[in-house]
Amino acid sequence: MGRNATPDVNAGPVPGAGAASLAVDVRGVSRVFAGRKGASVTALDDVSLTVAPGEFVSLIGPSGCGKSTLLRLIADLDTPTTGEIRVFGKPARQARIDQDYGIAFQQAGLLPWRTVTGNIELPLELHGAGRAARRARAAELIELVGLSEFAGHYPDQLSGGMQQRVAIARSLAESPSLLLMDEPFGALDEMTRERMQNELVRICGETSAAVVFVTHSIPEAVFLSNRVVVLEPRPGRIRDVLRVGLGNPGERGETLREDEEFFRAVSQVRELLHGEAPAGARGAATQ
Ligand SMILES: Nc1ncnc2c1ncn2[C@@H]1O[C@H](COP(=O)(O)OP(=O)(O)OP(=O)(O)O)[C@@H](O)[C@H]1O
Ligand SMILES: [Mg+2]
Repeated sequence: MGRNATPDVNAGPVPGAGAASLAVDVRGVSRVFAGRKGASVTALDDVSLTVAPGEFVSLIGPSGCGKSTLLRLIADLDTPTTGEIRVFGKPARQARIDQDYGIAFQQAGLLPWRTVTGNIELPLELHGAGRAARRARAAELIELVGLSEFAGHYPDQLSGGMQQRVAIARSLAESPSLLLMDEPFGALDEMTRERMQNELVRICGETSAAVVFVTHSIPEAVFLSNRVVVLEPRPGRIRDVLRVGLGNPGERGETLREDEEFFRAVSQVRELLHGEAPAGARGAATQ
């Protein structure tokens, strides 16, 4: 893969990838919310986006441009007004029933009556994993998110950032092939945030999970992603897609954050967000 960040006219992943081999296939999706007094909000307007297995795609854009709506539709927590969504070739509903993905959203959504360990074990329990296996996996994930001293604590005994880390650990419990993450690091301090980004890159490299990741942070999107999808609001549409090729997950260490290539990609995304064409190539994000 090249190391240049280039705007991409295509919101699709690798050329030639067939529909059945896609992790996520969003086709012509609109979501209109009925507002008060007959007014309606077009949260998403004819959005098409595909994510290949193992691919990391970030969604970035101003508040209200439909990022959470799109993620919720992929997770089948909401239904498109028009259009179709498939996850690993299945209708979104079936993928939810089969629990084909892990979710970490803006709110941690932990069960208050369960400890850190109990919350992380939940998806494993629902899928019938044995007690010893559950404990071992939970301990591994608790260490990963740096909460070993808090394994027996309840959510209300944790800070917001710590609760968020529990939610991230829980989303990883079953090593899903797809992770849907909505600003999962928003509540974390800068140092923890960068550590979690490094861990996420490592985990994705190890598990080959595809990720759809919502963030407001341009450097975060660039550091993590294969492609950055820039959305615009009212109506929510894909403005542009930037392919970022900053090396394989294994090569993406701390030094990358100081890399010239990294800064270049950051300014390209910034320009796209502000509606300016980066030198050379601005692509209409036709899907
Ligand atoms: N359940 C709902 N009912 C009515 N309108 C909604 C609903 N959910 C979202 N919207 C509207 O749809 C638009 C997109 O909302 P969404 O939450 O997807 O934005 P977002 O890009 O995630 O914003 P943020 O960056 O602030 O999280 C907004 O105008 C919002 O008011
Ligand atoms: Mg949101």
